[in-house]
Amino acid sequence: MKITLAFDVYGTLMNTHGVVSLLEGFIGSKAKIFSQTWRDKQLEYSFRKALMNQYEDFSICTKQALDFTCLFHKLELTEDHKAKLLDFYKSLPLFEDVKEGLEKLTDSKFDLYAFSNGKSESIRELLVNTGISEYFKGIVSTDTIKSFKPNPAVYEYFISQSQAQLESTLLISSNPFDILGANAYGFKTAWVQRNNHSPFDPWGISPTITINGLSELYEKIY
Ligand code: LAC
Repeated sequence: MKITLAFDVYGTLMNTHGVVSLLEGFIGSKAKIFSQTWRDKQLEYSFRKALMNQYEDFSICTKQALDFTCLFHKLELTEDHKAKLLDFYKSLPLFEDVKEGLEKLTDSKFDLYAFSNGKSESIRELLVNTGISEYFKGIVSTDTIKSFKPNPAVYEYFISQSQAQLESTLLISSNPFDILGANAYGFKTAWVQRNNHSPFDPWGISPTITINGLSELYEKIY
């Protein structure tokens, strides 16, 4: 039976904190904390807009979160710097274990999909820019149904789009909220815990497997 692999994108394939080096040039030592607030707020905005049925696409969440982060940290970035940061989001770097991990999965047993809150064209651009687009059979974007993870509707949409069997679908994500959302819908899950210090939400639910990087995925599936 085919195994369908649904890869989360931001934070799992692409390192959203890859922006820190660019930020350092603008705000120096505050770059790391700024990047963390920006990412946390971006996700919070996606959760809130989905819950309120006030969908705006993920790039708007990213932009509004950037504006919030400037206010929160009392840092005035120029419009030019903001534009450069938002532009950087289109070419985020891959985590270093990604290519090796994907390469091991080039087997006809697996169908690989990128499954993201980002719009399809943004995800396509990222996959092409980082040289990994050929590993994927397709892109499934929650934008098509105007909602965000972890709304159960987006996991249902993934299954219908990919024509996958739920029992043989694995969601691979570094984001615990995504793992819990997929698990609640019935997916198997692989949590990518790149940092041993990052905790999993203590909801009494465990991922099906936990890996330290994508290069471990193939061995853990078998
Ligand atoms: C994504 C967000 C969750 O790529 O990072 O869907």
